Amino acid sequence: NKAFNQKNHLEIAGCDIVQLAEEFGTPLYVYDEALLRSNIKDYQKRLKELHPDSTIAYAGKAFLCSAMCRLLDQESMWLDVVSGGEYYVARESGFPTERLLFHGNNKSPQERELVLKNGIGRWVIDSEWELALLSKEAKNYLHGKLPVFFRITPGIDPHTHAYITTGKVDSKFGLTLVDGIAQRVIRQALSYENLDVKGLHCHIGSQIDSLEPFINTIKAMVRFMDSFKEQNNFVFSELDLGGGLGVPYLEEQKGKFPSVQEYVEAIAKTLQEECEKYQYPLPKLFIEPGRSIVNNAGNTVYTVGTIKEIPGIKKYIAVDGGMTDNPRPILYDARYQAIIANRVNQGSPEMVSVVGKCCESGDVVIQQTETISVQNGDILVVEGTGAYNYSMASNYNLIPRPGVVFIRDEKPYLVVRHEGWYDLVRRDILPEYLIEKG
Ligand code: LLP
Repeated sequence: NKAFNQKNHLEIAGCDIVQLAEEFGTPLYVYDEALLRSNIKDYQKRLKELHPDSTIAYAGKAFLCSAMCRLLDQESMWLDVVSGGEYYVARESGFPTERLLFHGNNKSPQERELVLKNGIGRWVIDSEWELALLSKEAKNYLHGKLPVFFRITPGIDPHTHAYITTGKVDSKFGLTLVDGIAQRVIRQALSYENLDVKGLHCHIGSQIDSLEPFINTIKAMVRFMDSFKEQNNFVFSELDLGGGLGVPYLEEQKGKFPSVQEYVEAIAKTLQEECEKYQYPLPKLFIEPGRSIVNNAGNTVYTVGTIKEIPGIKKYIAVDGGMTDNPRPILYDARYQAIIANRVNQGSPEMVSVVGKCCESGDVVIQQTETISVQNGDILVVEGTGAYNYSMASNYNLIPRPGVVFIRDEKPYLVVRHEGWYDLVRRDILPEYLIEKG
């Protein structure tokens, strides 16, 4: 989806990025809409082939705005939301609430009320405390019995960054299988007539680079489902495996992650085999991919400002954004690669460090990368920023957040406007006693 035109400018999905930067300003998140849709269709097609009774709930936390909700609705997707805010944005956009799946380890009273009032496809119960609350509140649910999953922490280590590991026994999420805790809590739920226990959920982590942890998770889950059936004579009709498939961020990582095809094959096959082994009725399968649907479709466009060379040591290239629009390097030591969009392949290569404009030395976009020699005013594109960039952006240093453009049929559409400085005082309140001048 990337090419260079006669002006030697980078094109994404047929759009000249230099022109785009002029028209919309920088920094700017740019998504290739066709690629978003084809990533979705790829998942749908491959999963349906192997497990016809399946549902893909895109994990909204990776990237969500009204336009994305509409696109997901058009593609008949489900959507996994983790807060009242994500639920609200989805519902405001007209996304059908019966295709929403509601997560959260500490859902607030307001969030629970919002969802109970307006409907939900699946509600994922995360704790014993939440079940106790729902046992009373679910009678207010307007659409009959509340369809619920229970989140299980199956005790699997996915060998990814500690901050995005979620399925080990020591986790703030879910019910542990240890000491029969999950078993006891779910058995309790079966006695509540306002709850419709559909199945189990588990999510072991994110940016996972091998299939083995997913396979082990399925084994642990089916083993548990079977023992629950033996002891309680109850069959879970659905199983949600969460998301977590990792993606390459650098050229050299390509081919090092399982493809969507390999991932889907592995989970569908393992689930089938394990169910056969225990003679357990094959459950309907849910998955919740986020990163692997949006990451490669998104890029961030910056303008290069200050260039500082420390002879023999380093060359710093400062761009007009940084940790405010992409906190992943400072949070997880995440690595990225970049292209100079206005002079593609012109000039000699050099090693540079791409940094942001925040008042912290850790505000690094790329520690070290090779680019063609960079000049002030160049347009620098960081690739593969579609996931967990816009959604994790902040106003640190009171820097306004960038807008978002979708490119469709070679034309740009602004789908989130840039914040302006005026947005930064919108929520401020000045009590009377502070109005007097000094
Ligand atoms: N389902 C659940 C319950 C999750 O917690 C997550 C991600 C997903 C699905 C989607 O996982 P994915 O397919 O995107 O890996 N901010 C971090 C990632 C945090 C992921 C949290 N949960 C990052 O920038 O790497």
